[in-house]
Amino acid sequence: MYSQKVMDHFMNPRNMGEIEQASGVGTVGNAKCGDIMRMYIQVENDIITDVKFKTFGCGAAVATSSMATELVKGKTIEEALKITNKSVAEALDGLPPVKVHCSLLAEEALHAALWDYAQKHNLHIEGLEPPKEDIHEHEAENPKE
Ligand code: FES
Repeated sequence: MYSQKVMDHFMNPRNMGEIEQASGVGTVGNAKCGDIMRMYIQVENDIITDVKFKTFGCGAAVATSSMATELVKGKTIEEALKITNKSVAEALDGLPPVKVHCSLLAEEALHAALWDYAQKHNLHIEGLEPPKEDIHEHEAENPKE
C-alpha cells in the first residue's frame, strides 16, 4: 500500500523537532481527522537555511512533512512556494488515494510558516495567501486527489 520511500520517511523522519527563535512558525490542522502539524523555518538572505517539523498526525502526514522539509531546505522563498502537496507526494513515489489529503498538511504548514515570517518582517511574498487553520475546508474547496 505504501511505497518504500513513504515507509522510510515514516520510520526515520528527517528534520523532526523545533527551531528555537525560528524566522517563521506555522501550525495547521485538519478538523476532520484531528491531525495537526507545526513547521519552523529559518530564513537567511531569502534562503530557507533550516526547517523542522512536529506532527501530531498519521503516518502519511509524518512521511510527507519529512519529505517536504527535505525539499524545502536550501531553497529560496520563491522556490519553496512552488513545492506543492503533489510534488511532495511524487517525491515519495506516490500515496494511496485516501492519504493524499494528508500531504496538504505539509504544504499548508509550510505556507503558514512563510506567512508568519513575512508578517514578522513586514514583507509581501507574491502568491502567498493567509494560512487556513482548518485544512479540511480547504480540501473541500480544492480537491487535489
Ligand atoms: Fe489526518 Fe492523515 S489522516 S493527516
